[in-house]
Amino acid sequence: MKGVILAGGAGTRLRPATCVLNKHLLPIGPYPLILFVIGQLKRAGITDLLLVTGKDDLGDFAAFLGSGEAYGVSLTYRVQERPAGIADALRLAQPFTGREKFVAVLGDNLFEDDLTPWIQAFAQEGPGARVLLKAVPDPRPYGVAEVRDGRIVSLEEKPACPKSAFCVTGIYLFDEQVYAIIADLAPSPRGEFEITDVNRQYLARGQLRYGILSGWWIDAGTPEALWEANRRFAERALSLHL
Ligand code: G1P
Repeated sequence: MKGVILAGGAGTRLRPATCVLNKHLLPIGPYPLILFVIGQLKRAGITDLLLVTGKDDLGDFAAFLGSGEAYGVSLTYRVQERPAGIADALRLAQPFTGREKFVAVLGDNLFEDDLTPWIQAFAQEGPGARVLLKAVPDPRPYGVAEVRDGRIVSLEEKPACPKSAFCVTGIYLFDEQVYAIIADLAPSPRGEFEITDVNRQYLARGQLRYGILSGWWIDAGTPEALWEANRRFAERALSLHL
């Protein structure tokens, strides 16, 4: 299976650190954030990777990661013209993944679990998508999944009153239907093509499955979360699987 790393976005919540540097190149210990996701994919046997980022940042990623050879992976790059959302960035993966199932990961997501079992199970499943959930104390800044009787029954992006504690992490397993779904999407009120709207379409088709991460999970998109990631790295609870 191939992997898609979404590493765009303006990094607004991390300014001024992100004024001239992409969020995914900020350090955890001495390692730029992006290396942790690459390591997690490699750990799961996914080494053929597409990295999608903005045009101002592509040069930095290419200068740092090159072909991926130094890390035992093969990297392809695509440029997102403007930060128009995660689903808009994912659209660019179509020529890379073609008709195959694939895993897409947000480059700022740090987590403990080994993705191998989820990826292997997904490869055997019928058509559809799978999201990985994590119960968090405050799910309001995330996509939130309401789960009943072992099924997701609703999905909301950044709800003011979450219907559950289950955040939808930035680890997604998709089949080729994702591209037709994205092609039909309308932008959200914040002007972005939302990944939650993509997953809602799978839900409407009765084709959205889920798993629950058993280890810790961090979206390193805020100063507090980046600090937390650094703390875990110092305590050796966060490792680079490279
Ligand atoms: C994005 C998604 C959200 C998801 C989160 C996970 O939010 O829109 O559904 O829960 O990633 O990291 P963002 O961090 O881009 O605001």
